[in-house]
Amino acid sequence: MSDKEIKNKTWGGRFTESTDAFVEEFTASVSFDQRMYAHDIAGSQAHARMLAKIDILSEQECASILTALDEIQQEIETGQFAWRVDLEDVHMNIEARLVEKIGEPGKKLHTGRSRNDQVATDIRLYLRAQCDTIDAELKRLQNAILGIAEQESDTLMPGFTHLQVAQVITVGHHMMAWFEMLTRDRSRLADCRARLNSMPLGSAALAGTPFPLDRQYVAEQLGFDTLSRNSLDAVSDRDFAIEFCSFAAILLMHMSRMSEELVLWASQQFEFIELPDRFCTGSSIMPQKKNPDVPELVRGKSGRVFGHLVSLLTLMKSQVLAYNKDNQEDKEPLFDTIDTVKGCLRVYADMVPHVQFKHQQLALAVNKGYATATDLADYLVSKGVAFRDAHEIVGRAVRIAIDQGKELAELDLAEYQALSTVIGEDVYAVLSAAGSAQSKNLVGGTCPDQVQQQISAARASLD
Ligand code: ARG
Repeated sequence: MSDKEIKNKTWGGRFTESTDAFVEEFTASVSFDQRMYAHDIAGSQAHARMLAKIDILSEQECASILTALDEIQQEIETGQFAWRVDLEDVHMNIEARLVEKIGEPGKKLHTGRSRNDQVATDIRLYLRAQCDTIDAELKRLQNAILGIAEQESDTLMPGFTHLQVAQVITVGHHMMAWFEMLTRDRSRLADCRARLNSMPLGSAALAGTPFPLDRQYVAEQLGFDTLSRNSLDAVSDRDFAIEFCSFAAILLMHMSRMSEELVLWASQQFEFIELPDRFCTGSSIMPQKKNPDVPELVRGKSGRVFGHLVSLLTLMKSQVLAYNKDNQEDKEPLFDTIDTVKGCLRVYADMVPHVQFKHQQLALAVNKGYATATDLADYLVSKGVAFRDAHEIVGRAVRIAIDQGKELAELDLAEYQALSTVIGEDVYAVLSAAGSAQSKNLVGGTCPDQVQQQISAARASLD
């Protein structure tokens, strides 16, 4: 093996034989970390400007580095850049091309820097941009949900516990429950973004560097809020990626619940909604089928996102300080989490505004299953009966109704009075689904006026 071939490597100096061909492939990350090229270049440009500021680079050297890096970005974006596996990762591919283009000044760029603080910076910059895109998509989905909530703010539907009819609610109220889940998800994402926005550059390999780097100047250029305070920690921890994946896992858990409801509601057993045809697919054998593939797939995709969270936790667990090559394994789970979250949000934000609620079916459903039984108990309490006794009396009324195949509103007054003399003609208002919803008039309740207030506040929070 000739000296020249070993020297092909950025770090070839101390080696006496070149890397095993499969090891080269096995240890490379360029196939997946190249997606951080723009952030790697931005980081290098900020570093170069700072090196010029502290007189490690001349103005001329700095200018040629900046221009060449711009050109490299162009080459990458126009598909002209030749990524090389033997150059291992995105960082060394770009640096090698820089040296190839401009020679000596290119070789000075890595002064006071290591790939360890470089990669820790790149991932943060990349993820920070993704957080912003994802937050915008979350907001778009919230807007879509709010649109349905507004349209259906007083549409009655059965609310469930144990998937058994429980009490009357409104579709608007149900939609606002989804909205609340996403509000908390956005707040988790914002926390994650705030915590990751601290700059590792200046940590170098693990201990810092003897050069008097102006870290603040680099951070300002890259939009970092703070400088990392401990170089060992800054180059080694991937807790910010774990935190993002944990945000994503909770979001997908929420979206899987929404999905499950859409799947149920679209079924012939519920018939609460119609999903738009363009978001469904058919069966190759059963001509009548219209399958809710989008919500099913989103429900299914929660699995891989949960898996990525566990992958990253396991990857980080027990790692001694500081950087270890294990950390190269952070990228694929993180990137797939980002892609999956973006896909799920996009398809939901596109689909949700076109979900049609079937008012006739909902009206039938809300009047089945004794959804106003609790209202009857509350009515008895308002007439002076103790709640436990009221519960017992209503239980008997339900039993009678079941035996006769009737709803509670269909029992006559004499039957009610046989159960309790306090029951009067006014009981029928209480037994109506609309009256039931109307009566839950407190903050957070399902009364349409309350839901309207929730909706207005939510609208204001989005604008
Ligand atoms: N490709 C590497 C990674 O993703 C970059 C950092 C390499 N550092 C090192 N000392 N080998 O983690």
